[in-house]
Amino acid sequence: MEGAIINIITRTGVSFDLVKVKFHHVIPYGDRMRKNVKNNVSWIGYMDWELETFHGDEYSISNGSSQNAYLIEEGKTVLVDTVWTPHRSEFIENLKKEIDLKKIDIVIMNHGECDHSGSLAALMDEIPGTPIYCTASAVKSLEGQYGKKGWDFHTVKTGDSIDIGNGKKLVFVEMRMLHWPDSMATYMTGDNILFSNDAFGQHFAVEELFADLADQPTLWREAMKYYANILNPFSSVLQKKLKEIEGLNLDIDIIAPSHGAIWRKDPLQIVRTYAKWADSYKEDQVTVVYDTMWEGTAKIAHAISEEVHRQAPNTVVKVYNISKSDKNDVMTEVFKSKAIAVGSPTVVNSILSSVAGWLEMLTQLKFRGKKAAAFGCYGWSGESVKILQQKLADAGFEVCEENVRSNWNPEDEDFALVPAMVKSLLSGDGDAIVEETASDKPAKYQCEVCGYVYDPEKGDPDSGIAPGTPFESIPDDWVCPICGVGKSDFKKM
Ligand code: FEO
Repeated sequence: MEGAIINIITRTGVSFDLVKVKFHHVIPYGDRMRKNVKNNVSWIGYMDWELETFHGDEYSISNGSSQNAYLIEEGKTVLVDTVWTPHRSEFIENLKKEIDLKKIDIVIMNHGECDHSGSLAALMDEIPGTPIYCTASAVKSLEGQYGKKGWDFHTVKTGDSIDIGNGKKLVFVEMRMLHWPDSMATYMTGDNILFSNDAFGQHFAVEELFADLADQPTLWREAMKYYANILNPFSSVLQKKLKEIEGLNLDIDIIAPSHGAIWRKDPLQIVRTYAKWADSYKEDQVTVVYDTMWEGTAKIAHAISEEVHRQAPNTVVKVYNISKSDKNDVMTEVFKSKAIAVGSPTVVNSILSSVAGWLEMLTQLKFRGKKAAAFGCYGWSGESVKILQQKLADAGFEVCEENVRSNWNPEDEDFALVPAMVKSLLSGDGDAIVEETASDKPAKYQCEVCGYVYDPEKGDPDSGIAPGTPFESIPDDWVCPICGVGKSDFKKM
């Protein structure tokens, strides 16, 4: 059944649905899975050259990927993470070729997402009593996915450590919402290795294992795509976490993430780069994104790009028809941009679904400090520009009033609107001005980490906060019921 798409009947609620299930290719490992990282630490993951998409179809894979698991053989033998479910049998069989599984003293689960925990159930069938170290939130995610199996969980918090012999320790650092509530990193003293899990990774298969041996332009392009498309919504959390890690004064010789290449030559270069990316990153670039029905909106898109170049010859300008482009690559270009222009014709009082779907993703990624403008053709009702402007504002962009809204095909008078729109796009810094309006009602507050909204009318009864309690009156030790961050991570809506 490898690589096949089959139809299966599944029951949802009271009805039966026909669904297509794509089976992932299962490619066996070679003779040996182990690659040395440093001293008694080995990579024992899965080099996934066949992977085409990730997170369902939400993330395109262009250069393979890897699920990195690590084996530490000191006084104690420790397995850090496993690999994705489709590769579990090969993972276990090949691990058996490397060591007697019964020698594993400790399993560390840095994160419960199934690309790292997918082989855990099969592994625990072999070594059922082995202690699993993870965050309290990871217990929830692991039991949520695999059921309550009676595994020997040991929950840890930032600063907790375990002795693994030979004078070395593993120290845990919670990485809450980077990018799940359960995420954590594990630091190994002595060898000074930070097993950072998803943070600092790339979806990039690097057989040579180390970032300094990888093709550099591809490495950095994949690292940026990964940040822009997965981690950007958590930039504010990341900024705080980077400061916290800095405060721990850890000597870091190697950063070993759970995807892609391992950073060993100047490993902090990726940390410094993350600090830059997390701070409303933008380059001198404008990106034009559109779709078109009969080429009218396409003509405006190209006129905008020519005008950007005319007004700002040093500014990079790129144009993408979103229905013909990789949505994640376009999102990476948005990440690099100081401004974007988005276009769609009006279709049945709305916008094209290709643009609407992409805008949904744009909203999720929470880009900040960027400007945006809208354009599009119409025949009669002409709602597209207003809809685009609203969606761009909802996505956190500072939206220019100037726009190009062309009745039927764009003519000279429509193209004459382009220079003013581009001028507005190129001016200012894109930091939207939020005007507060007076209201008698206590304000709602939103968690900047997970998006949970505290509504004073409802309170948070599960945490002892009665309905009618204003946010300001909640005790300081209250935490977000979804992701567990404190009040300081909430913003007034
Ligand atoms: Fe690589 Fe969040 O899993």
